Amino acid sequence: MDFANKVALITGSGRGIGRQIALHFAQRGADIVVNFFRNRAPAEEAAAEIEKLGRRAVVVKADVGEPDGIETLIAETDKAFGGLDILVCNAASGYNRPVMEQKIKGWDWTFNINARSVLFLSQKAAPLMEKRGGGAIVSISSLGSIRVLPDYVVVGASKAAIEAITRYLAVELAPKNIVVNCVSAGVVETDALKHFRALQDDNVLVGAADRTPAGRIVTPQDVANVVGFLCTPAAEMIRGQTILVDGGYTLRL
Ligand SMILES: NC(=O)c1ccc[n+]([C@@H]2O[C@H](COP(=O)([O-])OP(=O)(O)OC[C@H]3O[C@@H](n4cnc5c(N)ncnc54)[C@H](OP(=O)(O)O)[C@@H]3O)[C@@H](O)[C@H]2O)c1
Repeated sequence: MDFANKVALITGSGRGIGRQIALHFAQRGADIVVNFFRNRAPAEEAAAEIEKLGRRAVVVKADVGEPDGIETLIAETDKAFGGLDILVCNAASGYNRPVMEQKIKGWDWTFNINARSVLFLSQKAAPLMEKRGGGAIVSISSLGSIRVLPDYVVVGASKAAIEAITRYLAVELAPKNIVVNCVSAGVVETDALKHFRALQDDNVLVGAADRTPAGRIVTPQDVANVVGFLCTPAAEMIRGQTILVDGGYTLRL
């Protein structure tokens, strides 16, 4: 129970990778703030699972793409637990289209939810972590930050922004004893894949597994394991890095 008496806020933790990260921290002893935007039912289910593990869970509806949503999330965290130790910026959305079909509205939507939220959630979370003597912030990126995926230009750019913001946060929050890093994942089978035309065919996932040196695609648990590690004292000297969890997929030309 290495996260006993710790409080972890995971954005977008009702479903997918975020939910697994929330359960992972709960299994290791943390109390959890479960955040959702549109889908309350899975968030309540995640909270019930966390409570079954003997941990406390609060469910907060908040759009991290809006300043008010960020204020709400931080205020509710403070109200429920009186501080924060771990922030995982996992929530993401995106306007998936080829370059020539992109729109300003899609750019703003995607950047506000994926990247602006990381900066301003971290800014608002830092005082809550300071009250507890420090903390850890981990954001979730993807291969689209450094590689070209179909229809992914805006999400890819927002992920590149997250990785850059991570480096600035790591330097500027270090005096507050806050450790900041990023985890970038290969393809993980979640609802998110429904939004990618290029991944609609099941054979694409089978092919991805075959091309991965590790022999399978990444699972939400694989991502949660590395996020958890980055929040332990063993990872204290890892700062501002983006750790790639892709089973070696991108190693081959
Ligand atoms: N799946 C992959 O292959 C893959 C690969 C690499 C990286 N990632 C990254 O891993 C993270 C999680 O991905 P996933 O596949 O688990 O995604 P997902 O299944 O599509 O879930 C997205 C989550 O984000 C939440 N969310 C969306 N917009 C939000 C907003 N404005 N405010 C608060 N929450 C919001 C959703 O909440 P609601 O349900 O309430 O809408 C949901 O919990 C993302 O950062 C994604 O880019 C995924």
